[in-house]
Amino acid sequence: MNKELRQAVIAGNWKMNKTRPEAKALIEELIPIAEKANCGVVICVPFTNLETAVELTKGTNIKVGAENVHFEKSGAFTGEISADMLTEIGVEYVIIGHSERRQYFGETDETVNKRTKSALAAGLKPIVCVGELLWERECNITEEVVARQIKLDLFDVSAEDVKKTIIAYEPVWAIGTGKVATAEQAEEVCKLIRDTLAKLYDKETADAVTIQYGGSMNPKNAAELLAQEDVDGGLIGGASLKAADFGVLLDEASK
Ligand code: PGA
Repeated sequence: MNKELRQAVIAGNWKMNKTRPEAKALIEELIPIAEKANCGVVICVPFTNLETAVELTKGTNIKVGAENVHFEKSGAFTGEISADMLTEIGVEYVIIGHSERRQYFGETDETVNKRTKSALAAGLKPIVCVGELLWERECNITEEVVARQIKLDLFDVSAEDVKKTIIAYEPVWAIGTGKVATAEQAEEVCKLIRDTLAKLYDKETADAVTIQYGGSMNPKNAAELLAQEDVDGGLIGGASLKAADFGVLLDEASK
């Protein structure tokens, strides 16, 4: 992390977990733990928990995010939620292009780009996820894959807007598998992302963007990952569902 240039952010990705009463209990546990954090704290929760999360975190340092957003403003898109619907209830962040959405729900770089632009236009801060498959890493094309995703996902996004965007580097093979990227692997790709941003925009813009690592980050491996210059926090799945574990990650990112 380089806290002089940019903000470190730990964001929880709850995925499809927690009913409303369960969400309430977890958030109530998290509030006092997060209070002392010297980094950005975000929890991205299922749609049904957003209002509860916004209400409970009012006046605290915890920000609330959604896990997806549609790119159209309204209309015949059964099952989808618009950016305005999210901002209207006080949601500030949104995860876009998570590998699970790419893998199971047909998300493409084109739709990631559209969602990112409509989220930004509505005033949401997108957390745009990129990352290679195991097969792609084995074929030695991680750099090409990730640079391509960055170029396509951020196409036509202004420098001013990209500074409001968080990029999450999540190697798909490390998500929910317990197989974490080494600190060197994480740094290598996070730096590649920053270099790609510098080429697309300029160095000052690239230096200002928060780039997270995600994929089995937990209390045991967080310190080493977060010690890397270009790893500015984490997008946390499993470990965000336990307040104590999430608290350790906040402590590590606060150093
Ligand atoms: P994990 O998930 O921490 O459970 O690997 C990370 C993510 O999918 O964002």
